[in-house]
Amino acid sequence: MFLRRALIAGGSAAAAAAAILGAVAVGKTRGDSDFQSSSAPTIKTGQWDKNWDRREPMSMVNLSKINGETGEEELQLHLNKHKPKATRHIFLIRHSQYKLDGKTDSERVLTTLGREQAELTGRRLAGLGFKYNHIIHSTMTRAKETMDIICKHLPDVTISSSDLLREGAPIRPEPPVCHWKPDVVYYEDGPRIEAAFRHYIHRADVKQEEDSYEILICHANVIRYIVCRALQFPPEAWLRISLNNGSITHLVIRPNGNVSLRMLGDSGFMPSEKISRT
Ligand SMILES: *[C@@H]1O[C@H](CO)[C@@H](O)[C@H](O)[C@H]1NC(C)=O
Ligand SMILES: *[C@@H]1O[C@H](CO)[C@@H](O)[C@H](O)[C@H]1NC(C)=O
Ligand SMILES: *[C@@H]1O[C@H](CO)[C@@H](O)[C@H](O)[C@H]1NC(C)=O
Repeated sequence: MFLRRALIAGGSAAAAAAAILGAVAVGKTRGDSDFQSSSAPTIKTGQWDKNWDRREPMSMVNLSKINGETGEEELQLHLNKHKPKATRHIFLIRHSQYKLDGKTDSERVLTTLGREQAELTGRRLAGLGFKYNHIIHSTMTRAKETMDIICKHLPDVTISSSDLLREGAPIRPEPPVCHWKPDVVYYEDGPRIEAAFRHYIHRADVKQEEDSYEILICHANVIRYIVCRALQFPPEAWLRISLNNGSITHLVIRPNGNVSLRMLGDSGFMPSEKISRT
């Protein structure tokens, strides 16, 4: 009985997630009233999907392998094998100010102010005093240059790069914006930025013994989308958030999958004249 209930609960969590992701498209094409009256699984908006990263221990166990009498004990054993122990801290850094008039990515280098901002961000991260494990930066020039300056303040931290973190248009924003883009842009960039989210943002692996502190140096759109997805806010809301250059966003992912946003776009550590505004 317990197993059956558990199976149903696991299944419906996944279905709810799929339905939430699908809701955008359904809502757009069929209209809200249609959507509510349809016989599709009921979406409880505002409900937390515990299996958001597909690492909820119950979803890691093949329930049909567990049998009868000894079932519950066996299940507990299996579940314990899949229970993460550590907390992951993710610091999302927006690159600092760069030359907007560059024609190609390699010409879009940091401005003098941008270089100063990166120094301040690096100093701040160092000052926070966490035992950083890893810096991962987008392969775009402005992110790499920001990383080069930040890492001077964080010696001995492993560095790697990723194309997944490059700037793009994650999903058509809601409310719509005046700088309209054809759907193909979202069609191409969206899944890649979603892949960045799935790859980097999840609860700790079971093998991870200690809390970790990772720094992702990337771009405003990528960070805004990740924040919406991590908090299970509608992803189309990404453009309602604004992030300063060189700012720090801090996400905390607990072993049980709880996520909290500790800081969003913090640049309060910069003297006001170093904060770029447009
Ligand atoms: C789950 O276990 C059953 C019984 O051993 C097996 O037949 C089935 O293929 C397994 N399912 C998956 C997805 O591995
Ligand atoms: C950050 O700098 C870029 C130019 O590098 C500029 O377009 C943007 O508006 C700045 N953002 C903020 C929030 O100041
Ligand atoms: C985190 O999740 C657990 C259940 O998994 C819940 O009891 C707890 O209150 C949550 N904490 C926060 C801060 O969301």
